[in-house]
Amino acid sequence: MSLASLNLSPSKTVEINTMSNSPPLLDLSSLDKRSSTSALEPDFLGYTAQSWLDAKDRLGPVMQADINGRRQVLLCDHDANLSAWRTPDDWQYGPPTSSGIFFNEQMGVQHITQQDGPAHRRSRKLLLPSFGIGALAQHLDVLGETLTQGLASLDDTPVNLHEELCLLYTKGLSQTQVKHPTSDNSIRLLNRFEEEFISGLRLSRDDQRTWHQRPDYLKVKQEAFGIFEGIVSARLNGEVCDDTLQRLITPEKNRGFEPLNAAELVNAVYLLIVAGVGNIAILASGMLWQLSQSTEWQARLREELKDFTPAGLSGGVKNYPLLQAFILEAERCYLAAPITPKITTQDITLGGFDIAADTHVLQFIGLPHFDNQRYEDALRFNPDRWLLPNSQRANAYGGGTHLCLGMGVSRVLLPLTLAVMVRNHELTDAAQPKNVLLRPEVSCSPTTTLFPVTLTGRS
Ligand code: HEM
Repeated sequence: MSLASLNLSPSKTVEINTMSNSPPLLDLSSLDKRSSTSALEPDFLGYTAQSWLDAKDRLGPVMQADINGRRQVLLCDHDANLSAWRTPDDWQYGPPTSSGIFFNEQMGVQHITQQDGPAHRRSRKLLLPSFGIGALAQHLDVLGETLTQGLASLDDTPVNLHEELCLLYTKGLSQTQVKHPTSDNSIRLLNRFEEEFISGLRLSRDDQRTWHQRPDYLKVKQEAFGIFEGIVSARLNGEVCDDTLQRLITPEKNRGFEPLNAAELVNAVYLLIVAGVGNIAILASGMLWQLSQSTEWQARLREELKDFTPAGLSGGVKNYPLLQAFILEAERCYLAAPITPKITTQDITLGGFDIAADTHVLQFIGLPHFDNQRYEDALRFNPDRWLLPNSQRANAYGGGTHLCLGMGVSRVLLPLTLAVMVRNHELTDAAQPKNVLLRPEVSCSPTTTLFPVTLTGRS
């Protein structure tokens, strides 16, 4: 799971930072509101990337603004973000940050995302090996085959590819990371839970409460946790499987930490099979839309991938430079979580400004992705930029101690998806991915992604 666009609707404010050398104050009314529903157009609190970048050029990369009834500091360029990632002890991710409260309420106090300090360090050390290429390398053939068969079964029928990819990713992960026979209905249920759970992050605090107190959401959540708990309970009662979950239950080394308890293992099952699949599919939708628009890139990728096998990814994607370039460009342009919130734990100086302890700070991790000072013609999708020496790293997965836990999973599933698509299918009648209401019948419904397309098998 990850921190999709957050519940940060701007509003009038109230708290004043009293430190003397404070960052300049941005008047939000100077920004351009984003009017499009295109999922391809970057969204920063409902304003366009360009107007934020203009503000950054006027005021500098560290500024303040009144958002959600509170004066917050905004970090708007790469250097400011780096400064924050390099000083982990200065930052708190847990409550009362907006995402800390959200994950705490929905997933419990032991969920990794909102932990801080030693508790977070322990969770990371224990969980991280399960999400890296080392854990996934042995599953590449099964994941590749799941995508190959699953995408073939969609041929010649109009589909919402975003939703179908979510289902296929969960299916693949529930045959590999956690080897557990999961019916198609259960996979649908898990995906419905994940999409309804995580999309709540895009809502205001009040709407989040309404959204997550709906009886049908509570039922789906209970059923999803019934599946996670059933899997853990079987393992704790003696069932043994050769999979990543087993290695979390009986690790070869626990690195000197208290092993994961039953509640943590339940959350780990969630993380292993369904967390974040919607974000991978957001990125994949943008990526595949661009593929559908460029016959030149289709031909180049087909040539590079003519001898491709999933196992070829065991050393990473670098053996396929065009595939890598296309994915890096999709990560730059279609990052699913462009802003991450945190709070200062002590008085700090950042970018030459004093920022008091307990200040709410928003890291605009995605804004540098669209800055012409960092990427030439930054609003254009241009994978060739990644074939030049010294291209600047993008940060779709965040950074520092809370760097996305699922980055390795995403970086296995995205190349597999692109390779299978390029080799086996044409994308016809593709419409630009757009944001639509997830449950139009619910007044506070957040959005989800719609990517209508028909796949045609290549002979
Ligand atoms: C394209 C897909 C994804 C994107 C763009 C993404 C993005 C992010 C970002 C930006 C963060 C915040 C990092 C920070 O605060 O600096 C994050 C954290 C996290 N992500 Fe992802 N994510 C993706 C997929 C996944 C997947 C598949 C998982 C499944 C395990 C996942 C699990 C997490 C977790 C657990 C955290 C919190 C880590 C921590 O607090 O230590 N994400 N993600």
